[in-house]
Amino acid sequence: MVSSHDFLKDKRNKNVKIYVNGKFYHRDKAKISVFDSSALLGHGIWDSLRYHNNKFIFLKMHLDRLYKDAKLTDIKIPLNRNQITSLLHKTVKLNKIKTDGHLRIIVSRGIKSTPYQSPKVTVTKPSIIIIPEFKKPDTKVYKKGLKLVTVNTIRGPLNVQNPQINSLSKLNCILACIEAQKKGADEALMFDINKNIATCNSTHFFFIKNNCVYTSTGKFCVTGITRQKIIDICKAKKIKVFQKNFKLKDVLEADEAFVTGTFAGIVGVNQINKKKFKINEDNLTYKLSQYYLDLINK
Ligand SMILES: Cc1ncc(COP(=O)(O)O)c(C=O)c1O
Repeated sequence: MVSSHDFLKDKRNKNVKIYVNGKFYHRDKAKISVFDSSALLGHGIWDSLRYHNNKFIFLKMHLDRLYKDAKLTDIKIPLNRNQITSLLHKTVKLNKIKTDGHLRIIVSRGIKSTPYQSPKVTVTKPSIIIIPEFKKPDTKVYKKGLKLVTVNTIRGPLNVQNPQINSLSKLNCILACIEAQKKGADEALMFDINKNIATCNSTHFFFIKNNCVYTSTGKFCVTGITRQKIIDICKAKKIKVFQKNFKLKDVLEADEAFVTGTFAGIVGVNQINKKKFKINEDNLTYKLSQYYLDLINK
């Protein structure tokens, strides 16, 4: 089995320094209180960024998403955008990351006085964690592609648990992921509340039919940065791209399919349920992935 997050092992990860609430710690010593809102009830948000060729990729968009999600979860990040940016740069510098860095930033509501939902029992400012790692995507996944399967777990309505938020409460995605893996697939293809195809459990979904590129409306997906970049690339290259509702039947009649995410960029899909797709260098998915690489290598 492969995944869109497969990476090459890197010994340097054994000694990375992790930022927790104002200080850096060796990874074995980086700890958070059991009373932190993240551990108790998953009240928090996160984002992942790539540090590639001495720079953060699409930093502004990642910060926009982080602050947007903080607002939607009623978390006041105690540092402003410049301070978070400096902290991210400090983290890569301290860890001597020059390229193939992957950083996870987590902001939780903070430490509580007792295990209870209400933020009224939260007694500290929000907690901030930054986990830097050396992660080079494993190229095997690009050659092989991913096997997707549709699952029973759906993307829920916005007023139940807004699926656009990159929250720490990822249970919806995790249950979909487990279902997919039990069915022998690499990633779950999830429906929305109206039986349209919405997205995958950890990546966004696209398909291609007659050289036109399709993705969902985005309403039931995490606000996707790579997703947006692919849409922008299509527009710039005059490739027809549609964000619209579609059904499983449309997907099963597609010529190609692929998924997107910050870590791996574009990964081709080799199978959805019983329908197989070819992964090769003549197809449009490959062309788009080259355009995307050009963009991040700029
Ligand atoms: C459910 C889900 N879909 C898709 C993505 C990929 O989004 P992006 O391209 O912004 O990394 C993520 C990443 O956070 C995710 O959690």
